[in-house]
Amino acid sequence: MSIFTTYFQQLSRLLQQARGDWQPLPFSCTALPWPELTTPLNALDEDALDALDANSEAALAWLSQWRPELPDAHNIVLPERSRAPHYANPRWSSGIGGRKWAQINDFAANLHTRHPILEWCAGKGHLGRLLAQQGALAVTSLEWNADLCAQGEQLANRLQLPHKFVCANALDEAAAKLFRPQQAAVALHACGELHLAFLRHGAAAHTQQLALSPCCYHLIAGQHYQPLSALGQQLDLQLDRHSLRLPLQQQATGGERVRRLRHIELTWRLAFDELQQWLTGQANYLPLPSFPKRLLSGDFSDFARWACEKKSLTPPAVIDSQYWLARAQARRLLVKRIELVRHRYQYPLELWLLLDKAVFLEEQGYQVQLGYFTDAQHTPRRYLLQAERQ
Ligand SMILES: C[S@@+](CC[C@H](N)C(=O)[O-])C[C@H]1O[C@@H](n2cnc3c(N)ncnc32)[C@H](O)[C@@H]1O
Repeated sequence: MSIFTTYFQQLSRLLQQARGDWQPLPFSCTALPWPELTTPLNALDEDALDALDANSEAALAWLSQWRPELPDAHNIVLPERSRAPHYANPRWSSGIGGRKWAQINDFAANLHTRHPILEWCAGKGHLGRLLAQQGALAVTSLEWNADLCAQGEQLANRLQLPHKFVCANALDEAAAKLFRPQQAAVALHACGELHLAFLRHGAAAHTQQLALSPCCYHLIAGQHYQPLSALGQQLDLQLDRHSLRLPLQQQATGGERVRRLRHIELTWRLAFDELQQWLTGQANYLPLPSFPKRLLSGDFSDFARWACEKKSLTPPAVIDSQYWLARAQARRLLVKRIELVRHRYQYPLELWLLLDKAVFLEEQGYQVQLGYFTDAQHTPRRYLLQAERQ
């Protein structure tokens, strides 16, 4: 049995048992869902909650007092993979942000191939272009945004690289034909359904080498994640999109401004929810879509009017911001207390999703490696799954 299978079984058991910890929807809760944690969680004020949530080790140690099996999941540590020797950027790299430049260089440092390359969901093909610069035989980049394809093609032509674009939908069946046995297929930050298609097509075509850094697990076609591996189908956690978002909620290492905006956003979303429950007479949480941060720089009443319009509600003539914001305070603490517990499952859940893919590739006859390809300061999505046919 491979180490991935062992870890996967261990995590499946733990996550199944702890379902009541990671599944609650914090915004929909009106009370803490865990009687045994009510007193210790209520003893934490907002500053203490924020400080603990920001310190993963301390938060895990705190929760382990009531969840003694949880550290086992966090003790599964993945290896750091290769890094580029330096991030000095040549003239042709101008226009690529510093963090993206580090990511693609680190990703490329892990790829050793003599095969032509297929780059999946390539954007402007920055990774493909770097690989072509580094001597790849030929690079084909698949991307559906025609503008990005045209820009990528122009950059490749200027450098006279063997790098071409296919402008097509990765989810069309025809895209499967791009995968060949004698090939290295790469995908940097491909979202949910796109990375699932990448793995399915690559395995079906017996593509020699696969390298994937997944992101946005919740962007899938169905309502629930369908495990790829046969073992995952037996141990299925029935993850819905809400649970699939949990690993993506890691706090970006933002400064004070980012923290302040997050605080305002949380408060305003909850204050609006209080307002809409009063307007509709329905005690149900009504989620708002994501919105531009500039909406947070005005007054709450303007935000509430915008939100009412989004939800086809008629706002009251006068919106008493102070009243609704005060109502949001108590709920904000409840949300933070629930999230302090849920966040301790971000790592186990993401690992479970990665291990399902690792086990799938092993089932398909690949030798698999899983680790971190770049430093956390470059991106929170830094897992690299690599597979080579034996
Ligand atoms: C997160 S970006 C990653 C881009 C690039 N790999 C990188 O790391 O810079 C995802 C890319 O996938 C493309 N994309 C999204 N859906 C697609 C689809 N159905 N078919 C092809 N490309 C798609 C987007 O246009 C975008 O360029």
